[in-house]
Amino acid sequence: MYKTNLHDLPQARFQYVMEHDEEHIRLEMKTDFRTLKKQALWAGLKPGMRVADIGCGSGKTSSFLRRLAGPAGEVVGLDGSEKRIAFAREKYGQKGMDFIQHDLKQPLNGLGLFDFIWVRFFLEYNKSRAEAIIESLRRALKPSGILCLIDLDNNCLSHFGMSERLDAAIHRVVQYLMDHHDFDPFAGRKLYSLLYDLQFKDIEVHMEPHHLIYGDLKEAERYTWLKKLEVAAPKSDSAFADFPGGYQEFSREFTDFFSSSRRFTYTPIISCRGRRP
Ligand SMILES: C[S@@+](CC[C@H](N)C(=O)[O-])C[C@H]1O[C@@H](n2cnc3c(N)ncnc32)[C@H](O)[C@@H]1O
Repeated sequence: MYKTNLHDLPQARFQYVMEHDEEHIRLEMKTDFRTLKKQALWAGLKPGMRVADIGCGSGKTSSFLRRLAGPAGEVVGLDGSEKRIAFAREKYGQKGMDFIQHDLKQPLNGLGLFDFIWVRFFLEYNKSRAEAIIESLRRALKPSGILCLIDLDNNCLSHFGMSERLDAAIHRVVQYLMDHHDFDPFAGRKLYSLLYDLQFKDIEVHMEPHHLIYGDLKEAERYTWLKKLEVAAPKSDSAFADFPGGYQEFSREFTDFFSSSRRFTYTPIISCRGRRP
């Protein structure tokens, strides 16, 4: 059992490494119903459930979860970004759906208990507080309620076909984001132990490729990867010491590498679900 909980940890400012003006657009583009449905049904989402969507972003995932929970179900989407919550309310607000701005580094109070809590692509942005956040979410579940954690592993780090200096710079950027922005490229491999340590029951794990990119690049893949590069990489100036032209030269070399049909890139996605004891 963890010794820390969110009440004991110092207050922390809401920060999100991918924050930029168009983040809601990026999330809208990369979220699709077929994938979410497969993952959520595997985890045990059923019609009529009361669902929390943790780090709901633009609200698209919440609207899909609402569809799966059916007319008798209810979904509460939570996100720390005022702008994305406003967008979600405007675009996806409907009966049985609520959007709340909340920094999940703070305890979750006054929302009642849930049958199903969905936490996808969220812990990767909350490295230092993952355990305490999961503890707090456990308390927000009904007995036998389901917690579904889904995250990437080796995030941004699995490529073949690039130069040594490009590879080294990417590793330095990721290390910088880990040290200064609470980013966790290895969130996926930790999900099972998070549930195990909190004595969740009926834990199941599934792993498959999230990105598997070879040959011609699809437009959505180009947009998401280059957007990640544009938003996250410049935060770490010191990563580009091997590039006389600094970040700009690094960015050009990555774009050429990524656009080449010889490039091979993959990212495992790990899903883990369990029931509150
Ligand atoms: C990649 S997006 C979410 C994707 C969505 N959950 C899905 O399943 O596709 C991550 C979201 O988590 C939110 N977020 C990250 N850390 C947070 C925190 N500590 N509190 C509240 N929201 C947070 C960000 O604002 C962002 O909108």
